[in-house]
Amino acid sequence: MLKIALPKGRMGDKVYAMFESIGYPCREIKEDNRKLVFRSDNGEVSYVLVKPSDVTVYVERGAADIGVVGKDVMLETRPDVYEILDLNIGKCRIAVAGKVGFKDDPSLALRVATKYPHIAKKYYDSLGRKIDIIELHGSIELAPILDMSDVIVDIVETGATLKENDLCVYSVIGESSARLIANKSAYNLGGDMIRSIAAKLEAL
Ligand code: PRP
Repeated sequence: MLKIALPKGRMGDKVYAMFESIGYPCREIKEDNRKLVFRSDNGEVSYVLVKPSDVTVYVERGAADIGVVGKDVMLETRPDVYEILDLNIGKCRIAVAGKVGFKDDPSLALRVATKYPHIAKKYYDSLGRKIDIIELHGSIELAPILDMSDVIVDIVETGATLKENDLCVYSVIGESSARLIANKSAYNLGGDMIRSIAAKLEAL
């Protein structure tokens, strides 16, 4: 049975709906419960619900055969998996943001709060700008508000979180959207079902 890692949270429902509409509905997953592993109604696939940033870990290690993850997580963690398809959902920008009116002082290391230390370092290295990375795992916007950092490197989807906290985008570093990824061995050894799923998802 093919194991599919689905991201919990804001992208999760949309991703499940895509798998449902290509023929793998699962009544149980829609119920209000705390289960983490589900078998599709037709018994052909199982779904495991994981934290979005952990999808790559499950797929890379073969605990799941395929999964759906944001390109932002792929760029940050560079997992050894195949990226098969852009699902064109969960679109957002990876951006540098800070307080409205922030003025950079190039004589000082820029304090950058982020859950993307690799992406941030690569970006500022390319500019030759010295930075001090403050790694956080959520509500990154708080860092400049509390003057713990000068800027943040984070994803911006609607821009509402920045706006409501008097922050604004200063530079866009990249684009992200949900990607279908596959474990390399699972794809190389028995990829027919994976290819068929990818083709159906692409046709949606
Ligand atoms: C992400 C991101 C921003 C917000 C951007 O956080 O870190 O905080 O979404 O979305 P917006 O532009 O539509 O407001 P998420 O909700 O994933 O939670 P987190 O703060 O726990 O990382």
